[in-house]
Amino acid sequence: MKTWIRWAALSGVPTLSLRMLARHGEPLAQLLTDPDARENPYPFGARIRAEGRIVRTPYILASADHEVCRNILRDRNFGTTPPEAIDLPAPLKRLIRATDLRLASPVEPPSMLMVDPPEHTRYRKLVAGAFTPRAVGRLRDRVREVTEELLDGLAGRENADLISDFALLLPIAVISEILGIPAAKRDDMLEYGNAGSPLLDITISWPQFKSAVAALRDSQDFLVGHIARIRRTPGDDILSDLATGGELTDRELLATATLIAGAGFETTVNLLGNGIMLLRDHPDQLAALRAEPARWPGAIEEMLRYDSPVQMTTRTALRDSEIAGERIRAGETVALLLGSANRDPAAFLDPDTFDITRSNARDHLSFGSGVHSCLGASLARIEGAIALQALYDRYPDLRHTGPATRRGLVNLRGYQHIPVTTGAARHAALG
Ligand code: HEM
Repeated sequence: MKTWIRWAALSGVPTLSLRMLARHGEPLAQLLTDPDARENPYPFGARIRAEGRIVRTPYILASADHEVCRNILRDRNFGTTPPEAIDLPAPLKRLIRATDLRLASPVEPPSMLMVDPPEHTRYRKLVAGAFTPRAVGRLRDRVREVTEELLDGLAGRENADLISDFALLLPIAVISEILGIPAAKRDDMLEYGNAGSPLLDITISWPQFKSAVAALRDSQDFLVGHIARIRRTPGDDILSDLATGGELTDRELLATATLIAGAGFETTVNLLGNGIMLLRDHPDQLAALRAEPARWPGAIEEMLRYDSPVQMTTRTALRDSEIAGERIRAGETVALLLGSANRDPAAFLDPDTFDITRSNARDHLSFGSGVHSCLGASLARIEGAIALQALYDRYPDLRHTGPATRRGLVNLRGYQHIPVTTGAARHAALG
């Protein structure tokens, strides 16, 4: 009952009112609830931008303006939006406060994603060292090895699924190794991630919420045992360092592990899937990459820009301020439409064109910006470039055999299935 009440307050009631507003043409409500927006959110984002740099809706502010989104992400007058800070009517807020499920969730404090400095600074400092470009550079060979093993498994496959047979398996293998999680546990981790991902959508349904909470409980039970094990016999991994360092409480440690585990693969899988589909739809760009492989890192930036794996985030004003001429009162929340901001013509020339040679693609907001900017950005970039280049090198005759299907989520944008036949393998090109 407590879980249902929490869902009703956080999602059920807000979704009903969003649907009503969407019927009256309110563009953010349409972006969040219209099935067409799940296929293609960008025309909805463009409509919001056309209404203003920052738009006031009946329940929240919203922006699809690149400069406004970036500035708010970097502005210390704005903080994160944990469930209790969402700008909802007071009775709903009281229900949310009264129904804390005390579960380690990536989208609730003390997850570092949902706390402000100084707590945030403390958490982030403890893990940042493991994810610097230099530290991640040392993982490059391991990412290559895992990629080549996965590609071996695709040889001669007439009906492979590039999501479940490839794009999901690389990041889960890498993040599990970083966290010292045994290989035998990966399938369970994938299930937790799949069930937990809709938690990032305000419109999450009751069955989705129920299974997300069950998945968080299972993942928490596993992580509690895992942490106890590594405390007894620490390994050479970041979680062992954190578990034995004594600087985090058990709850903080669990929240950190849950966030890194989930963020480590539920986003990168979307970069790989979205990238594969973009190259299918733009064979000239794939040909350009084949002719000039040095362009792969730039192509990854353009994939991130053009079809962002994370579509939005929110920030809540800590004090009264003014942004782009709009007065924002303390406590008001702004939806920052990162994916649509990446299509802002004021920031990117001809933004709806996918162009791997675009010189400023890296200015995208797909990894956020400011103090919460993605901790795993270097890792995701390396995984993206190595995995996609190796896939097309190894299987030059790769053919798509049916329609790819989207995951159907609002915020985490990616594919569920990409059916292909791989064709003959070319010799593995390590290097
Ligand atoms: C293409 C892949 C990825 C994308 C698009 C992505 C996107 C993002 C975005 C947009 C944020 C900021 C959210 C906000 O400000 O509200 C973020 C934060 C974060 N990401 Fe990623 N991410 C990716 C991969 C990864 C990976 C591989 C890891 C694994 C370590 C990771 C770990 C994190 C963490 C821990 C945070 C929170 C940082 C903080 O609050 O200081 N991400 N990510």
